[in-house]
Amino acid sequence: MTKPFSVAIDGPSGAGKSTIAKLLAKELGFIYVDTGALYRAIGYEVLNRGGKPNDPDFVEDMLPRINIELKYIDDIQCVLINGKDVTEFIRTPEVSMAASSVSAIPAVRSFLFDLQRETAQKNDVIMDGRDIGTVVLPGANIKIFLTASVQDRARRRYEELNLKGVGTTYSNVLDDMAKRDYNDSNRAAAPLKAAEDSIIVDTTGNTLEQSVEIIKEIIQKARNN
Ligand code: DC
Repeated sequence: MTKPFSVAIDGPSGAGKSTIAKLLAKELGFIYVDTGALYRAIGYEVLNRGGKPNDPDFVEDMLPRINIELKYIDDIQCVLINGKDVTEFIRTPEVSMAASSVSAIPAVRSFLFDLQRETAQKNDVIMDGRDIGTVVLPGANIKIFLTASVQDRARRRYEELNLKGVGTTYSNVLDDMAKRDYNDSNRAAAPLKAAEDSIIVDTTGNTLEQSVEIIKEIIQKARNN
């Protein structure tokens, strides 16, 4: 059996990782793994159980009691906690902040490590997150670090939330994004940073189509080599 092909896409929130990765995975016939959804599911479950996402004792105590699974239904990634599909509950601003907090706890990162690794060992994947190229798949065939200005990223996220009917303002989204950037980049455990061998793509000012084209070319070039 040939070794599965893996594309790691890391970068800050709102850079377009998931939209681009989802589109390209479909085109290439790869599995798209949204690792942020795993941290979100844990953040959601902590809130659900009345805990504080920045309380390591509470979170660590909860981990042995939960089982997380990734399932693909009609090509859509679903996250299950103890058999319950939580996919539709994990996109709120509150869960975003909770995910950022729990993701700084080393026990949470190691809890999710095997699931991410195993998925890439069994399938051709495009996996997006913060530490995929640096920690989860250091041997990935392609590593991309996708970024954009914080204003551009906040504008895109604001428009996305607006479409979903989540009531918020641009300035709230911008504040939350700057806060999450800071948390994700400054934590001790696997902080957000570009792997040394990654290709950095700045999507500021690009349309989605332009960014997709750029990444597609990078992947095609690497696959032809
Ligand atoms: O990509 P996202 O916005 O859904 O991620 C939610 C949070 O999870 C983000 O603030 C940081 C964390 N995260 C992480 O630490 N490592 C990953 N590989 C993916 C996400």
